[in-house]
Amino acid sequence: MRVLGIETSCDESAAAVIEENYRVLSNVVSTQLMHSRYGGVVPEIASRAHLRSILPVIRSALQEAGIGLEGIDAIAVTRGPGLIGSLLVGLGVAKGIAYSLGVDILGVNHLEGHIFANFIENPKIPSPFVCLIISGGHTELFFVPELGEYKLLGQTRDDAAGEAFDKVAVMLGLGYPGGKKIDQLAAEGNPHYHQFPRAWLDDGFDFSFSGLKTAVLNYLEKLGPKRVQERIKDICASFQAAVIDVLVERCLRAAEEMDTERILLAGGVAANSLLRRRLSLKGERDGLQVHYPPPPLCTDNGAMVAACGLFYIERGFKDGLDLRAEATSKLGEGKC
Ligand code: KG4
Ligand code: ZN
Repeated sequence: MRVLGIETSCDESAAAVIEENYRVLSNVVSTQLMHSRYGGVVPEIASRAHLRSILPVIRSALQEAGIGLEGIDAIAVTRGPGLIGSLLVGLGVAKGIAYSLGVDILGVNHLEGHIFANFIENPKIPSPFVCLIISGGHTELFFVPELGEYKLLGQTRDDAAGEAFDKVAVMLGLGYPGGKKIDQLAAEGNPHYHQFPRAWLDDGFDFSFSGLKTAVLNYLEKLGPKRVQERIKDICASFQAAVIDVLVERCLRAAEEMDTERILLAGGVAANSLLRRRLSLKGERDGLQVHYPPPPLCTDNGAMVAACGLFYIERGFKDGLDLRAEATSKLGEGKC
């Protein structure tokens, strides 16, 4: 069984071929760089860029896998959540290929795809577990009694964690998307240089990052551009510590309350080196198993979509050619 995965929900045109046991035969990602100058993704530009790049990306994925289209047994495609125009490009291409080959097509929830990125290197991760999905558009903490069943424990009340990284990066003149750059600069900075606020909210599992973002903005204005440049590494480290402190606390408390010893990270911010290090260290101390995908599989890619698709296709799920894009589809409401 070979599955072609297609991902176009935001600013990555991506395709991958995987087979049984989530073995990746190819994984090709084309990132749209033109959004950088606008400080964020411009939806109309994104969908036009997908139109140009998705076929060459699929061709490369097939070539890398050493097969032709006839070697594909099923197609998995992101159906949402995401930018509607971008999703429609992926869905249109996926339907066209599925129809012409006469193979099954399955729509995948993008967030569930992020979770499945964990299984590519480690197909046998047992359930139950808690899973923190942290990306440019989402910050959601789930309890997963078994794969396919998602109970939302908490989510952000305003900005997503990745969005906070990206907005602070723009304030610091680091461009978009800036999470990785902040991570790199923070590695050489002092996290105790400035105490930015942590939004602990109440005893629940919700998150809030907009207050922290405003606190950084006010701090930068007070400091002035010259001093900001001099202390940019310390500012990055102090901001990053404020985000990661909250993420780590929520994960550990959720694992304790849900009585599970397993934590999974998913989504672009799961690539953050401090988060990975801190959670692994705490995990070792407290007897917890902490999993996260390799960094290239944390950010958007086709392999995670194909992996999630394979899971459901092997269990007999499929969609029809009337499959619709869903800009705001949620995880945990019905199967896949
Ligand atoms: O999952 P993803 O590729 O796209 C969405 O589905 O949103 O996540 C992208 C997000 C961006 O906000 C980016 O800045 C952030 O992930 N990101 C990071 C790191 N690498 C990517 N944030 C913090 N540290 C990183 N190393
Ligand atoms: Zn994503």
